[in-house]
Amino acid sequence: MPFLNTDASRMHYEAEGSGPAIVLLHGFPENGSLWQNILPQLTSYRVIVPDLPGAVGSTLERETSIDDMAGLVYDVLTQEGITRAVVAGHSMGGYVALSMARQFPQALAGLCLVHSSPFPDDEEKKANRLRVINLIERGAKEAFLDQMVPSLFAESFRTNHSSIIEQQIQRSYLMPANSIVNFYKAMMNRQSSTEILAALPFPIQWILGEEDSLIPVAKILPFTHHSATNFVSLYKGCGHMSMLEMPARLVADLNHFLEFCYQ
Ligand code: MLT
Repeated sequence: MPFLNTDASRMHYEAEGSGPAIVLLHGFPENGSLWQNILPQLTSYRVIVPDLPGAVGSTLERETSIDDMAGLVYDVLTQEGITRAVVAGHSMGGYVALSMARQFPQALAGLCLVHSSPFPDDEEKKANRLRVINLIERGAKEAFLDQMVPSLFAESFRTNHSSIIEQQIQRSYLMPANSIVNFYKAMMNRQSSTEILAALPFPIQWILGEEDSLIPVAKILPFTHHSATNFVSLYKGCGHMSMLEMPARLVADLNHFLEFCYQ
């Protein structure tokens, strides 16, 4: 079981397969197991799947920002002897991937944003994050996750796959309260990435869910043609969680993008 040991975290990651590299970054409130349907399908690649600091599998030793997390993922690549990778990030993982694109553009062969956004939090979102932090600090972790996790999925998926939703809720309970607070502070304080899109020296892929209640498609779409090479997929009937809602479609799109980035 590989780990990256730093003052911020004893950070666990999976490293499987061989070939050109892809990094899969999970969102909140998940860990690397989010990608369990996807990892075995990327058969021609070296696949790196970290548990970000504070997610189940990795410790959280101090306050860790999105930029810090990006630095730690870059350090994992260095530890693994990988000089270039396609980095795919789901939602919060996409914020980390965008920070890697800003800090270490030479290390990326492509960037894939899976239900993620280049925008920073607006004032309303920040106020909401503070409310959640307050709730969590008062001991309402389970109550918060009970309502948050189902809201990530499209309504029809929620109705037809209640056992998957329940499993995700149970997994989310394992995240310690202080990790939730750290992730929320990190997301609240992240920088805007809209201005880096035009100058990205590698292709970018956008995976969007038409029924994603967290990432408003109408706000994101105008930004999906700012870079020189853009792959855009809009999944009808999908919420925020295509790796669970539509895994075959996501695998096909990722493999297509990887082939292009490494051609
Ligand atoms: C996620 O799905 O990673 C987060 O909920 C995204 C966010 O809160 O901005």
